[in-house]
Amino acid sequence: MPMQRYHPRMYPEVEAFAKKLKWFGYVKEIINWHSGQRPPGSRWHSRKRLPGSCWVWRQHGRLVAFCGLRLLNPQDAWLYGMRVTKDLQNKGIARRFTQELFRVARRTGRTWVGFNTYHYQGKPSPIYTIAERLGMELDAVHAVDSFWKLPKRISGPRPRRFTDIFLHYQAREEKTLFFDDHGWLWYRLVTQRRRQVNEGGFMIADVPVHIARYQPRGTTFNLLDHPSDFAGVLPTILSRATAKKKWVTVNYPAAWSRRFRRAVRELVPGVKMNKQYYPSAWRIYGKYLK
Ligand SMILES: CC(C)(COP(=O)(O)OP(=O)(O)OC[C@H]1O[C@@H](n2cnc3c(N)ncnc32)[C@H](O)[C@@H]1OP(=O)(O)O)[C@@H](O)C(=O)NCCC(=O)NCCS
Repeated sequence: MPMQRYHPRMYPEVEAFAKKLKWFGYVKEIINWHSGQRPPGSRWHSRKRLPGSCWVWRQHGRLVAFCGLRLLNPQDAWLYGMRVTKDLQNKGIARRFTQELFRVARRTGRTWVGFNTYHYQGKPSPIYTIAERLGMELDAVHAVDSFWKLPKRISGPRPRRFTDIFLHYQAREEKTLFFDDHGWLWYRLVTQRRRQVNEGGFMIADVPVHIARYQPRGTTFNLLDHPSDFAGVLPTILSRATAKKKWVTVNYPAAWSRRFRRAVRELVPGVKMNKQYYPSAWRIYGKYLK
């Protein structure tokens, strides 16, 4: 069987090819979260083992690919950190590896497996091809913008409770919700999540928002209802990124990104990319496992 469960003794083989590809640090973090191993040079050692596992792919005995499988909750699984050695790309390894990982997810009782990948507007990408070949659905194209070190003067009205934001999202046919607890992840809006989702249900200036605080310093906002005026909601959202070492991540449909970012620049004139904010856009693909 070409696919094997990752073992810490395989680390040198993973490093040998994965460090030549982009974002090797992320692969190390995933190893850290799921195997308890602290890879050399990793910034910190995760005390909490996260549900899930790491997997590798061998070809003629050589370790040629790596991927993490996170078990987000009892229904959903998530693939992240897929890497295939440069000299064997475009030979169908990622596609076959992903297909095998679907089987692992299904064996754990998960009924959906998803992943996110960078949204290159109007451009093709091997990952999009793989997702299509494997019959995955494009569940959303979302912008995810992070903010930190914003000026102290920003303040807005306190969020008010929204009683059943889960039902609201269901009526709007939203498919997924974002959270950034150890990775950028989306989970499905299925009935089993109702209580958890409703704990984060709020209104800011008459706009429903889902707020999640998984880490003491970071706040995640899911802004899935288009505000009539971003200026009404932004001060409350961005005020969470004005204190030292606090940051905010906002998930919203990518189609609004120009208007959203223009409103940010109006509220925080001179806001600096990479020094105070980082904009990005992601495609969220999902596969319903039978
Ligand atoms: C992305 C990556 C995992 C793909 O692995 P891979 O083994 O080369 O992928 P596969 O060969 O299974 O599939 C690639 C498919 O994309 C197609 N493809 C290649 N270049 C393409 C492009 N520019 N646009 C669209 N499709 C493309 C290939 O033809 C192939 O489709 P086919 O099997 O129908 O011919 C690998 O390139 C990699 O490790 N990249 C660096 C890390 C990375 O970006 N990881 C993904 C993070 S989300």
